[in-house]
Amino acid sequence: MTLDREFAELADVKPLRISTSRELTVAVMGAGSRGNEYPGYGKLFPGTMKVVAVADIDASRRHAMGDSWGIPGERRFGDWREMIAAGRKGRLADIMLVALPDGLHYEPAMEAMRQGYDVLLEKPMAQTEKECLDLLACQRETGVMVAVGHVLRYSPYFRALKKALDLGLVGDVVNIQLQEPVMYAHMAHSFVRGNWHDGKATTPMIVAKSCHDLDILKWLVGRRCVRVGAEGGIALFRADKAPAGAPARCTDGCPHERTCPYSAIDIYDRKRWFLYVFDLKRDCPSEAIVEKLRTTDYGRCVYRMDNDQPDHIVATLLFEGGATASFTMDAFTPWGGRRIRVMGTLGYVEGDGKTFTLRRFDSDKPYEWSFVPPEGETYRDSGHAGGDLALMRDFLQAVDTRDFSLLSSSLDASVESHLMGFACERSRLSGGKESIPAGIQ
Ligand SMILES: NC(=O)c1ccc[n+]([C@@H]2O[C@H](COP(=O)([O-])OP(=O)(O)OC[C@H]3O[C@@H](n4cnc5c(N)ncnc54)[C@H](O)[C@@H]3O)[C@@H](O)[C@H]2O)c1
Repeated sequence: MTLDREFAELADVKPLRISTSRELTVAVMGAGSRGNEYPGYGKLFPGTMKVVAVADIDASRRHAMGDSWGIPGERRFGDWREMIAAGRKGRLADIMLVALPDGLHYEPAMEAMRQGYDVLLEKPMAQTEKECLDLLACQRETGVMVAVGHVLRYSPYFRALKKALDLGLVGDVVNIQLQEPVMYAHMAHSFVRGNWHDGKATTPMIVAKSCHDLDILKWLVGRRCVRVGAEGGIALFRADKAPAGAPARCTDGCPHERTCPYSAIDIYDRKRWFLYVFDLKRDCPSEAIVEKLRTTDYGRCVYRMDNDQPDHIVATLLFEGGATASFTMDAFTPWGGRRIRVMGTLGYVEGDGKTFTLRRFDSDKPYEWSFVPPEGETYRDSGHAGGDLALMRDFLQAVDTRDFSLLSSSLDASVESHLMGFACERSRLSGGKESIPAGIQ
């Protein structure tokens, strides 16, 4: 086997820059973090796409996006429903980007599809299995193109890994171990204090955060997942773990503030992490941050929140044909990202989310893959290891050429991974294994 040559093929990273036959237009629902991330593509590569309408209930975000793209006042909407109402008189754009909070994905996406938009829908695509299946039925009926925000599929790292497995470089995949280290402060920020602290109002952790990972596992194995099991719970972020004398807020003179790694004063003010949620810049005065900590959930003690998301999950997955995978989501890590090990009949891969090493059993030579950007590009502006803007690139190209095959995170593929997530959550709560229904293909 000419492994050197085949491995060298993996270095071939698709450039971020593409040209489109015309400038595609985008209407954005939710001008928050994700609503700004994907249109960054049009700022980087002018002429490919532009934002022509925006809806956000937060006036400052709405107008920041409106001003940045020169959107006229009559195309700046408050609630997403106003944008849909305006679209009844004629579509506002080629593409609808749904980047609203988790509880506002299903209805807006259904309405957008019915109005004939091609839709870029943030994950999680919906809050229940039925809604996921409804979305798929509506997409098939309307024939529009829908991409789900499973951005990892588009990152050069996971693309190269997928190609290595598809080329058979490790033989048949027998088992995969995937770890999602969430990182201690990110867990506290997003899933204890933040937008996703309540799994009933959003989606359970294994869907909200880890649908990426279940999706990647299914994609790498390349087969349908037939059965899952899961365990996990809240080890730390609960009232009975609160240190003695901890008040309701870190700003209330907590005696543990200087030593607690979850201190909001430490995370937001001293370290200046995650300030985007307050629309504050890193060089803002401390008073502006402390004011937010006094008045929002981000200043509350992590042991006294109304959170229900597990801080550790272990899941087992069985795929058609017998391959297996194990997945762990861990809050208690110093870093985020992904760690993976793939066990195949002829070889083994180990990766840390940026580089991976492939070892064949018939050779002593390790093959190392690390990202070499295409000439003239850095991928520096693209989050999720390059996946965010690479998804936008492929979506724009797919919309422009009407070539659905360019979309890796199509709605059908994404429904399957969401069903895996909901089944894992049922298993975690019931203690039994859960089968994944077949037949959505
Ligand atoms: N693909 C990924 O890797 C990834 C990463 C992070 C978040 N997400 C998902 O993206 C979505 C958005 O997350 P975010 O971090 O950008 O959140 P965000 O809070 O920064 O942005 C959401 C925006 O929606 C606006 N909004 C809320 N209700 C509205 C309404 N009724 N009408 C109009 N606007 C409304 C808010 O004012 C806010 O600006 C979430 O579902 C999240 O789970 C995906």
